[in-house]
Amino acid sequence: MKHQTIVTILDDQLTPSDVVVKGWVRTFRGNRFIALNDGSTLRNLQCVIDFENTKSELLKRITTGAALSVKGLLVESQGQGQRVEVQVSQFEILGDSDPELYPIQPKKHSFEFLREHAHLRIRTNTFGAVMRLRSALSFSVHKYFNQNGFFHLHSPIITGSDAEGAGELFRVSQLDPKSPPIQENGQVDFSKDFFGKETHLTVSGQLEAETYAMAMSKVYTFGPTFRAENSNTARHLAEFWMIEPEVAFMDLAGNMDLAEDFLKFILNDMLTNHAEDLAFLEDRLIQEDKSKPERERQTMTLTEKLQFVVDNNFTRLSYTEAIEILKNSKPNKKKSFKYPIDEWGVDLQSEHERYLVEKHFQTPVILFDYPAKIKAFYMRLNDDQTTVRAMDILFPGIGEMVGGSQREERLDVLEQKIKALGIPQEDLNWYLDLRRFGTAVHSGFGLGFERLVMFTTGMSNIRDVIPFPRTPGNADF
Ligand code: 4AD
Ligand code: MG
Repeated sequence: MKHQTIVTILDDQLTPSDVVVKGWVRTFRGNRFIALNDGSTLRNLQCVIDFENTKSELLKRITTGAALSVKGLLVESQGQGQRVEVQVSQFEILGDSDPELYPIQPKKHSFEFLREHAHLRIRTNTFGAVMRLRSALSFSVHKYFNQNGFFHLHSPIITGSDAEGAGELFRVSQLDPKSPPIQENGQVDFSKDFFGKETHLTVSGQLEAETYAMAMSKVYTFGPTFRAENSNTARHLAEFWMIEPEVAFMDLAGNMDLAEDFLKFILNDMLTNHAEDLAFLEDRLIQEDKSKPERERQTMTLTEKLQFVVDNNFTRLSYTEAIEILKNSKPNKKKSFKYPIDEWGVDLQSEHERYLVEKHFQTPVILFDYPAKIKAFYMRLNDDQTTVRAMDILFPGIGEMVGGSQREERLDVLEQKIKALGIPQEDLNWYLDLRRFGTAVHSGFGLGFERLVMFTTGMSNIRDVIPFPRTPGNADF
C-alpha cells in the first residue's frame, strides 16, 4: 500500500479507512500517542500504539526525531485536539534517533541555536511554516507573471559585466591562487583564466533582462544574486534571490503600478491560501510580544499587517518631498537620527526609510526621482538634469523591499554617463546596442525575495528565511 502525506490524510481522507504514513516523531506520550509530522503541514498526525502488544525494546526506539512508517486504521479521534487519529496495527522504525544526541528537542530553542543546526531546524514548527510559505511565495511569483503575460528568463549567474558598477563582486576563477599567471605590468593575467577574462557571480540579472524585454516585451528573472558587501545586518545576505521583471514600453508610473499590483497579489494569495502557517506565525509573534515593553509591541497582528498592504494604496512621493519631511521631522530636530538630514542629495539610511513608513505615513511608501549621483548609471535622467527616474518601495519593519527604475533609452545620454563614470564602453557595447537598434522606453525593478519572505512571515532576521544563509564569515552547510 502506498503511503499518503499527512496533509492529505488530515484534510481529505474519510474515516474509517486504511492508511500508511511516514514521518518523523515529534513526541511520544504515555507509551501510546505518537505525534507524527512529515512536513507536509504544520499539523501532526496522532498515531495510537497498542503498547500492551508491542515489545518494549521497540517502544523505546520511538523517540523524538526517529523516522517511522505506520500502518493502521484512520478513525474519528476519541480524544480532543484532533479530528482523526490512526489506530496503529503495524509500524516500523525506519531510522533511529538517539534522544541523548538529537539537538531538536520538543522545547523552545533560540533562533541562534537553530541557525547552527540549519540542517535540522526545518523539523521545528516555526521553520516548517516559514519554509512552506517561502515555497508558496515562490510559486505565487511565477503564477502572477504567468497570468500577466510575462516570459520567464534564466539570466546567467556567472557574468563578465558588473551591472551595478559597485565593487561588491565575488570573483569566479580557475587560476591557482598561489601562482597565478602574471602580466608584464605585474597584474594577474586573466586572459589565461577559464573564460579568457575576469568573471564574477552576478549581482543582478537586470541588464540581461533588458535585452529580453527589448525582444519579448514582458519578461522576468527570479534567481540567485551575490553581493560581497560587508553588511552584517538582519536584512542583508551575501547570496539572496531576486525577482526582476523588465517591461518594454512601460514608464516609471507603470513600473510603480506593476510593483504594487504584484505585491498585493502575492500577499493576498498567502492570506487566502496559506492561512494555517500564517496563523501559527502570527500566534508566535503575539507570544513573543508579551515579553516586550508596551511601546515595542506590534500595533497590528501579522495577518492584519498583510491585509493592510493588500487593502491600501502605497504612498507615492518624490525624494525631494521625502527630504523635506525628514528635515522637519522630530528625530532630525532632536538629533536622534544617526545620520542627520541637512541637505538635498544625501542617500537615505534605513532609519530614515523606516521613519517615513512606520511613523509618518504608516503605509508602504514608493519614493521616486532620486538624485542621479546616488543611483546607478542606467537610470533615465529627468529633464532637470539632476534627478533620475528611480523608485524604491519601502516597507514597515523591512525598509527597502524593491529598487527599480525607468531605464535610460537615449544612446547619447547613456554613452555620456558611462564615460563620466569611467566604465569601459567596450564592456557594455551589447547593452548600448539596445539603444542603437529599436530603442524604446522600458522599466523594471528588483525585489529581494528574502525580504518578501521576512515581511510575510514576520521573521525579523533574514538568516531565518533562507535555508542556508551566506553572510560575512559564514558559509556553513
Ligand atoms: O536595489 P537593488 O540593488 O537593485 C538592483 O539590483 C536592480 N538591478 C534591480 C532592477 O532594477 N532590476 O536590489 C534590489 C532589491 C533591494 O530592494 C532589496 O530588496 C534586495 O534586492 N537586496 C538584498 N536582499 C538581501 N540581501 C542583500 N544584500 C540585498 N541587496 C539588495
Ligand atoms: Mg536599492
